[in-house]
Amino acid sequence: MKLKNKVAIITGAARGIGMATAVKFSKEGAKVVIADVNELDIKRSVESIKELGGEAIGIKVDVTKRKEVDELINNTVHQYGRIDVVVNNAGITQDAQLLKMSEEQWDKVIDVNLKGVFNIAQAVGNVMKEQKSGVILNASSVVGTYGNFGQTNYAAAKWGVNGMTKTWAKELGRYGIRVNAVAPGFIETPMIDKIPKNVIDMMKEKSLLNEVGSPEDIANGYAFLASDEAKFITGTILSIDGGLVI
Ligand code: NAI
Repeated sequence: MKLKNKVAIITGAARGIGMATAVKFSKEGAKVVIADVNELDIKRSVESIKELGGEAIGIKVDVTKRKEVDELINNTVHQYGRIDVVVNNAGITQDAQLLKMSEEQWDKVIDVNLKGVFNIAQAVGNVMKEQKSGVILNASSVVGTYGNFGQTNYAAAKWGVNGMTKTWAKELGRYGIRVNAVAPGFIETPMIDKIPKNVIDMMKEKSLLNEVGSPEDIANGYAFLASDEAKFITGTILSIDGGLVI
C-alpha cells in the first residue's frame, strides 16, 4: 500500500477524476477527505469508499471562499491530526471564444481553477511547514501548455497552475514539501459531457493510443506522485494524455 495511513484532502472529489483519485488513494491505504461544493455527490463518494472498506469523510467546501477553505483545513487537522497530501483537483469550464467571452465566464473559471488552488495551497502550506513534510498536487491540463480553441479563461488558469506549481516547489522544498502537477489529456468524466461526439472522436484519433483516458488513469498518476516512490520529484508537470500532444 503506497499511501498507508497518509491523510489526503482531495478537492472536487465528489465525481469524475477527483472521485477516482479518492478511491485509488483509499485502496492504497490513505484516509481521505472528500472536499467538494456538491453536498449530494459528496455523500455518494464517501459511501462508495466505505463500501470498499476504506476510511473517508466528506466536507462541503467552495474552494473560492477562503473562510470555507480555512475551515476545511482546520477540520481535517482536528479529525486526523495532520495533512500529508492535498490534491487540488476541483475545476470547471465555461467555454467561449475570446470575442464572445463574458466577464462573468472569465471571472468564474479564474476564481475556481486558479484562485481556488492558491487558497487551498496557502492554507495547507502552513500546516505542512509545521509538520516539515507534505505533498501538494495540482490539476493542470494539456490546455495549460498548448492552449485550446474556446478556452481563454481555462488556458489562463491552467498556465497559472503550472507557474504556481514551479514557484511553490522552489519556495516550499526547504520545508520538506513537494509540489507537482498532473496535466491530463482528454478524460471521460461529466466535465466533457457537453462536448459533441465528433469532437471526442477527433480527440481519440489525435491520441497516439487512439483512446480517451479514464479517471483512473489520472488517479494512478496522483497516487504515484503522492507516494514516497516520488520522494525526489518536485516542480514537475506530469502529462497523462495518451500522447495527445508531444
Ligand atoms: P468534473 O466536472 O467531473 O468534476 C469536478 C468536481 O469539482 C465536481 O465534483 C464539482 O462539484 C467540483 N467543484 C467545482 N467547483 C468547485 C468549487 N468551487 N469548490 C469545490 N469543488 C468544486 O471534472 P473532471 O473532469 O473530473 O476534472 C477534474 C480536474 O481535472 C479539473 O481541474 C479539470 O480542469 C482537470 N482536467 C480534466 C480533464 C478532462 O478531460 N476531464 C482534462 C484536463 C484537466
